[in-house]
This record gives sequence, structure tokens and C-alpha cells, in this order.
Amino acid sequence: MSNAQSCPLPTVSLSKYLKEEGQNKNEESQLLKSSLPAENDCYTQAEDPVSDVPKYLLELGLTPECKQLISSLPAEKGWVANLLHQYQGFWHTTRQLQAVLTCQNHFQAQDTDILLVTTPKSGTTWLKAIVFALMNRVQYPNTDNNHPLLSENPHILVPFLEYGLYIDSQVPNFTTFTSPRLFATHLPLVSLPESATNSSCKLVYLCRNPKDTFVSLWHFTNKLRTKDMGSNSLEVTFDKFIRGVSLYGPFWDHVLGYWKESLENPERVLFLKYEEMKEQPKLQLMKLAQFLGCPFSNEEETRGAVDGIQKLCSFENLSNLEVNKTGKLASGEEYKAFFRRGEVGDAKNHLTPQMIQKLDQITEQKLHGYGLKF
Ligand code: A3P
Repeated sequence: MSNAQSCPLPTVSLSKYLKEEGQNKNEESQLLKSSLPAENDCYTQAEDPVSDVPKYLLELGLTPECKQLISSLPAEKGWVANLLHQYQGFWHTTRQLQAVLTCQNHFQAQDTDILLVTTPKSGTTWLKAIVFALMNRVQYPNTDNNHPLLSENPHILVPFLEYGLYIDSQVPNFTTFTSPRLFATHLPLVSLPESATNSSCKLVYLCRNPKDTFVSLWHFTNKLRTKDMGSNSLEVTFDKFIRGVSLYGPFWDHVLGYWKESLENPERVLFLKYEEMKEQPKLQLMKLAQFLGCPFSNEEETRGAVDGIQKLCSFENLSNLEVNKTGKLASGEEYKAFFRRGEVGDAKNHLTPQMIQKLDQITEQKLHGYGLKF
């Protein structure tokens, strides 16, 4: 028996819908959506019905607890939304902060859960696609013309906790998830829900060098700003980033928290680097499968399953799919905004030598002492 067959069960039990004969693509897509946590508002309504403002800019529906907390927290002007608030040492938009609190109060982790953790723009979309394809490869071989990744954006297949499931709802619908459940989060280690900290669920952390992460974040946030808002200059956002004032920043503290945890608990936290995934994708994929308890068998390797998943999830493939060129999250972000260049070292095309020097210097000060280099 191949190892793949002894893999944990698929993370989303969709096959009974998708494999049924006679269903056309639209029906499949609808069923796929309905079997995922689509009942949550963030997946169903992109704009405020009254003002047409994308949901990610709204700051409605705060609980009294959240309002009170906000009044006691340091605040700074945001990159896209109005304000960022510093909570447990990290910066969140108002809408996000409410979701973080809801998630911390309500999420019940299971020991078999898998959490994919990143700072924004570290390759989250890529990691989601890879782990989804890996965990579901028996049910959906990469050669399957109906593979869910061909018709759904990775953010739909692997939802964020605080950024998705809990963004509008205290009680997301978890009934459609089968074990092992697969979620993503941008939460720093200190802010993970207690149930996740206390469980033995596995964490996969993907980080990326701060220069490319910053440049990617600058581009992305400018795409999210409305025409009326105009673009943020590189200089203004750079100043915020190096002070730690960025989405889920300070970047370095976020990375360091998980880096230390991965050294202390390597069986619980797998620490990956975007650059290494680009350089040695096959090796990293195999490491990932091993860590998740579903290593590739010799037979799978021989028939090219590892290369197949790598190709399926490549930037070239995913970014050229119709679904990722045209769709958008119900919270308003266009899928295409998650695919830009997907390269290592693009920062040098945007940053001045002084900016590069500054980021290198901070990285050295904050991370080198712990053995973490980029
Ligand atoms: P760039 O802006 O440098 O191109 P996130 O998914 O965390 O939001 O990160 C987005 C970054 O990952 C973007 O980086 C995007 O182009 C890149 N990316 C998206 N899909 C990718 C893939 N399949 N392979 C490599 N990089 C990818």
C-alpha cells in the first residue's frame, strides 16, 4: 500500500459531490463553495450593500468589548484601512482586531488540525495550494482535470481563521470540514487562540525575506486602496514597516516567535522559507509531506506525483487560471492581487541601497543572534 493511501483523511470532503456523474462545472463549483465555510459573510458578500465600499475597509459591528479595548491600545494611521491598533505587540486593522478577539474567544482547535501560518505576502496563497494538494492527493491526484485548485482560489479551499472564518461571525460553520482540518492564519504565536496553543495541532510557518515581503506588501496594499485614496508612497510605508507598523507586524517579531518555537518543538512547528521553496521545491515538498504525516511513497515519487503537485501549484500555473484572474474574495480583495511576480529578489528593483541596508541591518540585529538568516 502506498503511503499516500495511509495519509490522513482529506481536509475537505468534497469528492462525493465532485465525482458524481453528470454534474457540470458550474454545479461542481457551487457545490464546492457550499461544502466550504461559505455561510460566513466574508465569503458571500463583497461589498457593503449601502455604500459599495469593499468589506475590508469597513469598521462596523464592533462589540463593546472590542471598542473598549481599542480605546486603550496604541493606534497609528493604517496602510489601507483607517487605523492600525497594537494588540499583544502586533498591529491589526479595526475590522481585523474584532475578528482576532472573536477567534481567540471561540475557536476550538483539535489535535489533528493543521494551521498554516504566515505574515502577509510571505507566500500564503502558494502554501495553501501546496498543502491542500498534498493532503488531498489520494482523492484529487494532481492529474485530475477536476482538481479543486483549477476552479477555486486557494483562499477558498483553505480559509483563514481570524481573517476569514471569524471576520464576521462568532460561530463559523465547521460541519463540512473533515479531519484533519486545514486552516490558515496570520496570527503571531502570542495571539494564537488558547485552544490551539494547548492542543497538539501542527503548525507550518512560511516566512520570506523582509525586503521582498515589504515590496510585495507595498504593491498589494496599494491595489487595495480605492481611487479616492490614491497610492501610498514607498517612503512612507517603508518608514512604517521598519518601525514594525504593518499588518501583523512587527515582521521580525512575528518570524522570531515561530522560529524559536520550531527549534523548541520541531515535531509541532515546521519552519519554511519562501526562498528555499523556490530553490528546491521538491525537497521542501517532501519535507512538508513527511512533517504532515503523509510522506510520498517510492511509487508516488516514481510516477512524478511530487513534481506534479509542484507544477500544479506553481506561480505560472495558478496565476494563469481563469478563476484567479477574474474572481474576488467576498471581503472584496481580487484574487489576481495575490499573484504579482512570485520571484526572489524583486526588492532590488524598488528599494534604494539605503533602504536595503536598513532592512538588512534590522534583520541582522533582530534575527541573526537566533541563527536565522535570509
Ligand atoms: P510578489 O508580490 O513578490 O510577487 P501572499 O500569498 O502571502 O499574499 O503572498 C503573495 C506573494 O506570493 C506575491 O509575491 C505573489 O506573487 C506570490 N505568489 C503567489 N502565488 C505564488 C506561487 N504559486 N508561487 C510563488 N509565489 C507566489
